[in-house]
Amino acid sequence: MARRPRISRTVPALRRALAPWRDAGDRIALVPTMGALHDGHLALVKLARKKAERVVVSVFVNPAQFAPHEDFATYPRTFDRDLGLLQKLDVDMVWAPGVPDMYPEGFSTAVAPKGPALVGLEDKFRPHFFGGVATVVSKLLIQTGPDFAIFGQKDYQQLQVITRMAADLDITAKIIGAPTVREKDGLAMSSRNVYLSAEERQTAPTLNRVLRDVASKINAGRPVGASVKQGLAIIERAGFKVDYLEARHAQTLEPIASKKAGPIRLLVAAKLGKTRLIDNIGV
Ligand code: PAF
Repeated sequence: MARRPRISRTVPALRRALAPWRDAGDRIALVPTMGALHDGHLALVKLARKKAERVVVSVFVNPAQFAPHEDFATYPRTFDRDLGLLQKLDVDMVWAPGVPDMYPEGFSTAVAPKGPALVGLEDKFRPHFFGGVATVVSKLLIQTGPDFAIFGQKDYQQLQVITRMAADLDITAKIIGAPTVREKDGLAMSSRNVYLSAEERQTAPTLNRVLRDVASKINAGRPVGASVKQGLAIIERAGFKVDYLEARHAQTLEPIASKKAGPIRLLVAAKLGKTRLIDNIGV
């Protein structure tokens, strides 16, 4: 049985624990999470294990990325269970600061990403979100100084924002995007899937089904705009309230009208009852 990961709760304790690994020349991979771990997170940890001698998983529900009306207070917190899962994967360190450790009194600095953070997708519906993510992720990267940092492609816009931010701020960690892990019926794994009722859970895979259908139409040469419009109608008919279903350039996330203009990513966000789901695929 693997050893229980070390837990650091303050920045000085984290730095003290990391120093000997760095002195020994060990590479460090960081997997930032907000806990409530599922197989999607565990796939990121397994990838981290392959990349580096030492794996650090951060568990921090970041208040700065939730708007006042969102689910910060009720976001699932399952620390003991998470720790057991991370132990099985031989994780070396869990970085679990409290809110006052991450944002001490007087904290007055924020990272304000532009470019892929301002393209009218998640940012249109959650305007506070990428500022909060960029601020906490830059802090996590500065605190840990990893060689690699691994994020899921499920939050595709987040991945592009973080990749851009790391390049712009000369952060040396290599940012790696790992493929989305799905349930057998195609639903992208998410900590928020636990909010779905049994009936909603049956409907939820429609999102992925429609994305695949739209992608195959575009690949078959049908016009991008019309294919997306048909997909939107199917999702709405299934009972979702759609925030967006869009074809975007896979790197810049700017609107894109045809496959000739570059690689396409299809991205969707929609509410089913009270639960907001997102998903995306490459074309
Ligand atoms: O994707 C998440 O879980 C969070 O946005 C992250 C990257 C851990 C920052 O809080």
